[in-house]
Amino acid sequence: MQSYSLFAPAKINLHLEVIGDRPDGYHELVMIMQSVDLGDTLHLRANGTDQIRIFCENPQVPLDKTNLVYKAVRLMQKKYSKVSNNFGGLDITIEKNIPVAAGLAGGSSNAAAVLVGINLIWSLGLTQPELRDLSAFLGSDVAFCISGGTAIATGRGEKITPLPDLKDIWVILAKYNNLSVSTPRAYKSYREQFNHLYVTDLEDINERTDHIHSGDLVRAISEENADKIGHLLMNDLEKVVLPQYPVVSNLIDAFKAHNVLGAMMSGSGPTVFALCKTQKQAQMVTTNVKKEINDANLDFWVTKMCPHGITVESKGQSSKDKGQR
Ligand code: C5P
Repeated sequence: MQSYSLFAPAKINLHLEVIGDRPDGYHELVMIMQSVDLGDTLHLRANGTDQIRIFCENPQVPLDKTNLVYKAVRLMQKKYSKVSNNFGGLDITIEKNIPVAAGLAGGSSNAAAVLVGINLIWSLGLTQPELRDLSAFLGSDVAFCISGGTAIATGRGEKITPLPDLKDIWVILAKYNNLSVSTPRAYKSYREQFNHLYVTDLEDINERTDHIHSGDLVRAISEENADKIGHLLMNDLEKVVLPQYPVVSNLIDAFKAHNVLGAMMSGSGPTVFALCKTQKQAQMVTTNVKKEINDANLDFWVTKMCPHGITVESKGQSSKDKGQR
């Protein structure tokens, strides 16, 4: 049987705007998402048993039914039960590099890799839009993670419009490893504090949603104008998360003091990212901010914007098949 190793990049949000409530209890969002080169590698293999087995050395990653990866396999098994009976369950090994519960869509990107991987292993021939439709059952960010790159995400986050690739911008990620933010709680706080600003009329929601396409940030992305992109970063969730976590706010300020292109919290946090024009600058700023804040719990990564989502790293035959030859 075939096995696949897939690369699953993390994402940052260059723009996250909360528009209003949705009838399904989620929020209507307008986002611009960006993949980065920091990512996990997932090894997938049909195991011919009735089990879904997840392996990961990171103790923060659950290996049971609560892992989004497990839910992704179950979704595909239910949807394509006949095909799935021919292959049985899956063994999935996750090499975890993306920090967990960080606002970087690590779990969503892993689930996206499983959808892409199963499509290949079971030879389903599903297109990216078909995989994106399925992904909505798993989480709002999974659709973006499939195709990745630079894109507008609207609706719950699952409606994707690709934008021109950004390649030459360096990204510093920084996260306190003793800090995690609950995404549902961040949105709940936002609703409690800002629901008086929510747009309720469908026509107004559509107008706000459409506005992004002709907005300054999309123009700056088309022009690959890194200075403007850095200047135009915005995230509504900062309004509720930063007052609660002053250390995150201080971290953003520390980056800004080093004249980066821009610095902001990603998603619901607590990861902060800073944009730089060169690798050299990104490394220098990292060294300086690390020294200034001097906290053993603060982790840094220097990475780059990346023009793709899930990609196949390698393809092989499982050792069981090889032995049978
Ligand atoms: O879709 P996902 O499971 O990633 O969302 C996590 C949580 O974030 C949801 O349970 C919800 O509380 C909040 N959310 C939201 N509106 C969105 C996306 C997420 O309120 N569009």
